Amino acid sequence: MDLYKELLIDHWKNPRNFKRLKRATSRVKLVNPLCGDKMTLELKVENGEIADVGFSGTGCIISQAAGSLLTEEVRKLKKLDKICKIDEKEYFKILGTNVVPGRKKCALLAYQALKKALEGNGRQNT
Ligand code: FES
Repeated sequence: MDLYKELLIDHWKNPRNFKRLKRATSRVKLVNPLCGDKMTLELKVENGEIADVGFSGTGCIISQAAGSLLTEEVRKLKKLDKICKIDEKEYFKILGTNVVPGRKKCALLAYQALKKALEGNGRQNT
């Protein structure tokens, strides 16, 4: 199995930041219209930085692993200004794998939820 697939499976089996936040400053719930799977992404922002981030919901390996990988990156970047600069190209680099066109909606669920959550904190997205 190639390294990237192993990474996705690891994040699916042991999702990082899979939790609900008690005092989120923004919360976004999205549904993949193709399958009905749901993802909730929450941010707790303090002084322009991520104090906490979590995601929850149900979905396929790709959507859940993407939620895990993206929230890890958000924690690592910490500053909202840097997080807002994540564009689609950068996002797929974070996922570290080529997602086949038919599964792109699965992969994008977490990304779209993050973009909306950032708007909820008064940030413009790139
Ligand atoms: Fe539903 Fe991937 S099949 S999110």
